[in-house]
Amino acid sequence: IPVEIFTTPKEGSKYVAREIATLIKEKNAAGVPAVLGLATGSTPISLYAELVRMHKEEGLSFKNVITFNLDEYYPLEREALQSYYSFMHRHLFNQVDINPANIHIPNGELPKDKVKEHCASYEQQIEDAGGIDLQILGIGNNGHIGFNEPGSSIFSKTRLINLDNSTRMANAREFQNIAKVPRMAITMGISTILKAKRILLMAWGSKGPIISKSVEGHVTEQVPASILQQHNNVTFVLDEAAAGDLT
Ligand code: F6R
Repeated sequence: IPVEIFTTPKEGSKYVAREIATLIKEKNAAGVPAVLGLATGSTPISLYAELVRMHKEEGLSFKNVITFNLDEYYPLEREALQSYYSFMHRHLFNQVDINPANIHIPNGELPKDKVKEHCASYEQQIEDAGGIDLQILGIGNNGHIGFNEPGSSIFSKTRLINLDNSTRMANAREFQNIAKVPRMAITMGISTILKAKRILLMAWGSKGPIISKSVEGHVTEQVPASILQQHNNVTFVLDEAAAGDLT
């Protein structure tokens, strides 16, 4: 897996933002929408700040952009502060000129008997948009991408999953306490992610050990990010700490 190493997360985020901007402009020139796959969590916050800056200061437009988010907690109302729906609107969508109709985020509010159908239609919407041109990923300390926890099948599609306890603990800071962290999530699957034409995985700080396993270890469903070794157009964008365990 090719890696790009930067001194700070901010520099790494600028690199990713530039690639996104280039894609948007190319697609604009061709008269077709740019289809982005987006992630949440602490890692891409500096990326979204840079995209908002490019929109405000450099006129980068999102009018021709279609987005699909990787995941959402289940069950959780979208208006909850901790929902990824809220996160995305706070950090990006409310601050740029994207058409709300072009935003797709898995719905954490549906009754359980409607979830399967929703997941199938999410997959279909991605296909109808022409597939994801560029997928942004973070990585969990256990190697998860999206919320595909260790053991997720390489063939998995968008679905309801149980969150690992380590993931619930890592994300507890967003909630009042661990008991309030939802036990499930809807996530794109590994196969959904692998279908993206281009993938950029971002990691900063303490992710060094799992980055080394993902890049240099065996391809195994026990380390979901290691499966990215089988994608032909993926780059890991790292800061020096996250690259520190690579040989
Ligand atoms: C978020 C997502 C997760 C996070 C991962 C890292 O949409 O899909 O895989 O990218 O849990 O989270 P942070 O960035 O908070 O360390």
